[in-house]
Amino acid sequence: MRVIEHPVLGDLKEKKSITIYFDGKPIQAFEDEPVAAALLNAGIKAFRKTPKRHEPRGIFCAIGRCTDCMMIVDGVPNVRTCVTGARDGMRVESQDGLAKGKRQ
Ligand code: FES
Repeated sequence: MRVIEHPVLGDLKEKKSITIYFDGKPIQAFEDEPVAAALLNAGIKAFRKTPKRHEPRGIFCAIGRCTDCMMIVDGVPNVRTCVTGARDGMRVESQDGLAKGKRQ
């Protein structure tokens, strides 16, 4: 799903390939690309569930404003994955509702 060639932005620059883990499953990513982009590229569209109805949510605004992409990253809940860069070995978990604890 990655855009390799873009008519305005140009070609995707070569980046280091890394592995992140989504709910324990290894996913290929590029270093420092948004975690949400790596998940979408792997075909994962549901990142969290809403607190009341437990409806799935995924990427919406992609600029860190709407909170639809919040997930638990390396044990920290409520992380906006659309503006969080991927690091090798990062553990990303889907989130059900608003997890308690530190917000980022
Ligand atoms: S998709 Fe809106 S904050 Fe990430």
